[in-house]
Amino acid sequence: MDTQQVEGSRAAAEHADGSRSAPALPTLGALRAYENDIERVLITQEEIQSKLAELGEKITRDYEGRDLLLVGVLKGAFVMMADLARHIRLPLEFDFMAVSSYGAATQTSGVVRILKDLDHEIAGRDVLVVEDIIDSGLTLSYLLKNLRTRKPASLEICAMLHKVDVQQVPIDIRYVGFDIPPVFVVGYGLDYGERFRNLPFVGTLRPEVYRDAVS
Ligand code: IMP
Ligand code: MG
Repeated sequence: MDTQQVEGSRAAAEHADGSRSAPALPTLGALRAYENDIERVLITQEEIQSKLAELGEKITRDYEGRDLLLVGVLKGAFVMMADLARHIRLPLEFDFMAVSSYGAATQTSGVVRILKDLDHEIAGRDVLVVEDIIDSGLTLSYLLKNLRTRKPASLEICAMLHKVDVQQVPIDIRYVGFDIPPVFVVGYGLDYGERFRNLPFVGTLRPEVYRDAVS
């Protein structure tokens, strides 16, 4: 990344008539601080974007003529949902749910609580649940059971990441971005202690980051 160019873009632009537009937000500067905490990039921004285009194409084909409702699982899925939705060339609606899963730790608790429910009924709708990552599968399995009782016309899952060999409950994932090893990852919506969600790639953290957090 060209540092000079990034810094330069933060300056307020001066127009010919002497007026000035607001300076761009210093997003990339903030990301540089995060990048020091990253051990390894597992999936690049380019890989993510081309995978989403591919998934969007499939979803467009599969849901043609249907009543598609994307249900995002907050907070992690919001980044993916925004990008994925723009690759789906169909009329669709959004809704969101928030469930508790990890808190600030990196191990799943198995305890799932609905913190925010859907705004609307889903009876008769074609519901596609958008998840950032499927680890033990406990969160999603609970969520699916709950959503099924509301009688949607169909209920499928689209997950950006799927950790292999760690599911404690079988889950049928219709659309999956990437299979990854069972390691803790951050970025592209995924957090560690609420940080790192805005990284445009998926990566692992340096061990010092966890050590600093507990000491
Ligand atoms: P599960 O119930 O074990 O499948 O966990 C699902 C939720 O835990 C995800 O929606 C994430 O919010 C969180 N999670 C699981 N693995 C990771 C990870 O590697 N990094 C960050 N969050 C994770
Ligand atoms: Mg999540």
